Amino acid sequence: MRIKVIGTGSALPAKIVTNEMLSRIVETDDAWISSRTGIRERRIAGEETTTDLAVSAAKAALEDAGCAPEEIDLILVATFTPEHCLPNTACAVQAALGCRNAAAFDLNAACSGFLFAMNTAQAYVEAGIYRTILLVGAEEVSKVLDWEDRSTCVLFGDGAGAAVVQAREGEAMRFLQFSDGAQGQVLACMERTAENPWHTAEKPPKTLTMDGQAVFRFAVRRVPECIRQLLAQAGKEPEEIDWFLLHQANKRILDSVANRLGVEEGRFPMNLDRYGNTSAASIPILLDEVRRKGILKEGDQVVLAGFGAGLTWGAALLTW
Ligand code: COA
Repeated sequence: MRIKVIGTGSALPAKIVTNEMLSRIVETDDAWISSRTGIRERRIAGEETTTDLAVSAAKAALEDAGCAPEEIDLILVATFTPEHCLPNTACAVQAALGCRNAAAFDLNAACSGFLFAMNTAQAYVEAGIYRTILLVGAEEVSKVLDWEDRSTCVLFGDGAGAAVVQAREGEAMRFLQFSDGAQGQVLACMERTAENPWHTAEKPPKTLTMDGQAVFRFAVRRVPECIRQLLAQAGKEPEEIDWFLLHQANKRILDSVANRLGVEEGRFPMNLDRYGNTSAASIPILLDEVRRKGILKEGDQVVLAGFGAGLTWGAALLTW
């Protein structure tokens, strides 16, 4: 059995923060940010919470799929920035939408989270456990950024994307996923919101920390390697793939992956210029955009690939 995407949705905070607006709070400028990353603006949450964004995106995906809330068997929300520790965001989505027959849990694989959620959905479907699954990637990275650190605060944004997938006869979606916990410190957020009376050790930083160059090197090496391995298993060449929907971290990373795969950049749709890096939300927001624009055609070969903190990375090959 394979999964088929039958509906998508996305939700973005109303507030647009341009590079020029950032240059008024940290020492930076549009030329530096856009030339190093391709990002021109991002959405930053004000009143909206991660839960609000997740619910809006999920609602839009259900409507797009023409799917009743009761039909959903499982809700997976990928996030590293939930509004609450408990209850999890997936249960909040369940309650808001009335998906009363679903099991619901969150999954944290940072920027690879939505891809890992999709792979999890494929595994459940293939095992015959669930049939209709709601997948959400939702983040408010702005809540864990150090807004005085120009090397990180310019890169990220907030948002949510969702997809409803359903079991269909046919060969299972191929996927690969990897982690390298030994390199966890290159992109970390060590926030601890509560202390016990016996904990006297020095507190770790509450905001996101990153070795940008190490992350860059990791991404440009591991992502094309992983996609090539996946395609080799499927007996396909990169030029046979119609679309590469990659985590939207940085235009230079995407250009480098395209170059290393020998594929023209036009087959890598991008929206990071408008949204920045929205972590687990970036792939489903992009998927929703390209689907609603009619870019994806029945039978298209689509590679999804994610990479990020953990370190985590992976790819999946979908027949649209
Ligand atoms: N505006 C202006 N200058 C900045 C800046 C900003 N927003 N951020 C950093 N700089 C400065 C640095 O302080 C440094 O100055 P110095 O030479 O005086 O010390 C200089 O720019 C170069 O910094 P460096 O870190 O070497 O830049 P870089 O070319 O590696 O680009 C990144 C930095 C973050 C854009 C790049 O490393 C990158 O894209 N990494 C991947 C990050 C990522 O995508 N993470 C998420 C993955 S899921």
